[in-house]
Amino acid sequence: MSNQYILVNPQIAPFVAHIQLNRPKELNALNLELMLEIKQALVELDADDSVRAIIISGNERVFAAGADIKQMAGRNAIDMLKIDQFTTWDSIRKTKKPLIAAVSGFALGGGCELVMICDMVIASDTAQFGQPEISIGVMPGAGGTQRLTRTVGKVKAMEMVLTGKFIGAQEALNYGLVNKVVPVEFYLTEAVQLAQTIAEKSPIAVQMAKESVLKAFEMPLQEALFFERKNFYMLFATEDQKEGMAAFVEKRKADFKGK
Ligand code: HXC
Repeated sequence: MSNQYILVNPQIAPFVAHIQLNRPKELNALNLELMLEIKQALVELDADDSVRAIIISGNERVFAAGADIKQMAGRNAIDMLKIDQFTTWDSIRKTKKPLIAAVSGFALGGGCELVMICDMVIASDTAQFGQPEISIGVMPGAGGTQRLTRTVGKVKAMEMVLTGKFIGAQEALNYGLVNKVVPVEFYLTEAVQLAQTIAEKSPIAVQMAKESVLKAFEMPLQEALFFERKNFYMLFATEDQKEGMAAFVEKRKADFKGK
C-alpha cells in the first residue's frame, strides 16, 4: 500500500520496523487518513515474520501535535459518532508485537495518547507531553484520561488534563511516562537498540509477555494472574522454550525462531 502521511521501513534494523509520521508542515496532526495508514501498516507488520518489534516516531520537532483540529472543527457529535475513529485506535492498540514510541518535540493530545498506546517510550531531551484538549473546549478522547491517570497518578493527570500544561522529558521520566531520555540526536538510535534487544528474544514469548502485562490494566489481579499462568504454560509448547533453556545449559546464545 502506498502511504501519503507515513513512511514505513519494514527493516530499519534486523527484525525491527519503523513507522514515521510524515506530515511535518501540520506538525504530524493526526487526521483520520493518517491514523488509518498507521493501523494498516501495523496490521501488515504484525503479520510479517521478519518483524519482531516496531518503532513509531515523528521527526525532531514533533512526534504529533494531536488530532487534526482543522478536520474536526466543523463536526457535530453525530458526525463524530458516525465517523467512529476509535475503531482505528482500538485496532492499533491490539497490535501483538511490541511498539516503541521514539518521541522528540511535541507529543500532544492524540499524539500523547498514541505514545501511551505504545509499550515503551524513548524520549529526546526536547520532548514535551501534554493533553491540551481542554484549551480547545474538549477533553482527551483516545484514552488520555485513563492511561495517563494509570501512569502518572490522579493529581498529575488532573493537572495536565484540566490545565492543558505540557511537561518536559525529565518530568515525564520522573512520572514513568517514558523509559529513558537521551540527547535529541540519539532518540531514534536508542529506540532501535531497545527494539533490537527485544527482537533477539523469542517472538512468541515476547507477544505473550506483552499481552500479559497489558492485562494488569484490564483485569482484576486474580484473573490476570490466571491469564499469566496460562500464557506461561503455553510457552512450554514452543521450540523457542527448548532452545532458550538448552542454550542456557550449554552456555551459548539462544537462536530463537519464533516457533
Ligand atoms: C491541525 C495543527 C495542529 C493540530 C498544529 N497544527 N497542530 N493543525 N491540528 N493539532 C498546524 C498549525 O495550524 C500550523 O499550520 C502548523 O501546524 C504549525 O503550527 P504552529 O502553531 O504555527 O506552531 P508552533 O507555534 O510551534 O506551536 C506548536 C504547538 C501548536 C504548540 C504544537 O501548534 C499547538 O498548540 N497545536 C495544537 C495542539 C493541540 O491542541 N492538540 C490537541 C488536539 S485535540 P499553519 O497552516 O497555520 O501554518 C486532540 C484530541 C484527540 O488531539 C482525540 C482522539 C483522536
